[in-house]
Amino acid sequence: MNQILLLPLTVLLLLAASSIVQSCLPSERAALLAFKSALQESHVGVFNSWTGNDCCNNWFGVACDQNSRQIAIIDLRAGTLYETMEKAHRPGYMTGHISPEICKLTRLSSIIITDWKAISGEIPHCITTLTYLRIIDLAGNRLSGNLPSNIGKLQQLMLLSVADNLITGNIPVTLPSVAGLTHLDLRNNEITGPIPQWLGRLKILSRALLSGNKISGPIPSSISSMSRLVDLDLSKNELSGPIPESLGRMAVLGTLKLDMNKLSGSVPATLLVSGITDLNLSHNSLEGDIPDSFGARSYFTSMDLSYNNLKGPLPKSISLASYIGYIDLSHNHLCGSIPSYSGLENMDQSSFANNDCLCGKPLKAC
Ligand SMILES: *[C@@H]1O[C@H](CO)[C@@H](O)[C@H](O)[C@H]1NC(C)=O
Repeated sequence: MNQILLLPLTVLLLLAASSIVQSCLPSERAALLAFKSALQESHVGVFNSWTGNDCCNNWFGVACDQNSRQIAIIDLRAGTLYETMEKAHRPGYMTGHISPEICKLTRLSSIIITDWKAISGEIPHCITTLTYLRIIDLAGNRLSGNLPSNIGKLQQLMLLSVADNLITGNIPVTLPSVAGLTHLDLRNNEITGPIPQWLGRLKILSRALLSGNKISGPIPSSISSMSRLVDLDLSKNELSGPIPESLGRMAVLGTLKLDMNKLSGSVPATLLVSGITDLNLSHNSLEGDIPDSFGARSYFTSMDLSYNNLKGPLPKSISLASYIGYIDLSHNHLCGSIPSYSGLENMDQSSFANNDCLCGKPLKAC
């Protein structure tokens, strides 16, 4: 072979080699295109950039691992496109389903497909084979079916959100084995069955948001062993039984929302002198007196105990609270004089309305 032929061949080989280094794997490109073909979006043109061979380069919402050049991130949020969509006078809107082809992207660490309102079908259960996954965020669609039962296999998972979908079935019993989970958001679905008894094994969970489902059974006391839990929202479910008093002994719990359930028993004294600043226990079947356990540690931006069966007087110790920004004790069976404490006197009358015989400021004198 002469030099003249050899030179272009070398260039070609070099080009080929560099394209192997820089482009995505053809098999992954094919999987992405199959994923795309199961979705329809025509208002914004989210997928317009998904052309050419190199899916690691300028494909909207796709990012690759630097070393392996495998696809690491799919990030398709309608939220970030609202401006574009408003200009086009179209809402965020995508139909179709999430193709199981996504499971061929073995290096995926983030799947973020949020707020498209109309993506339906099931979450492909094969995603539990994607062992690099750290983030699954599918909030704000119309996904149905169950959560994958073997989600516990995803040992790298930090964030799981399927909020605002139509997910049914139980919370998988394997969920507590996702040791690194920090953020769990299952709000506003149709999830039934109990909270897994050993949810407390999620040692570094900081937000557990399960409100707006049909979750039933007791609140497992194991939850109180989650020492980094800041925000626990179990409201608007069908939970029953007592409120574990250990919830009031959690190191950093600041928000506790248990409103709109079927909880019974008394208000644990611990809740009133904990680090909790935002407490909502309204619309349950709590009974007995409000514990006389307020103290200097009691600091509430908001405390709502309305719509229960609480009786007796307001405890004297309430005047020891450092701060109560808002209180609602209405729709109970409280009786007696409201302790004089500026925090209470300045509240609206409605905070004390519909009780048996409360009196004193801000209500009429006793
Ligand atoms: C407490 O929960 C009830 C029922 O969900 C709700 O109506 C109320 O506004 C909540 N209270 C506060 C202070 O947010």
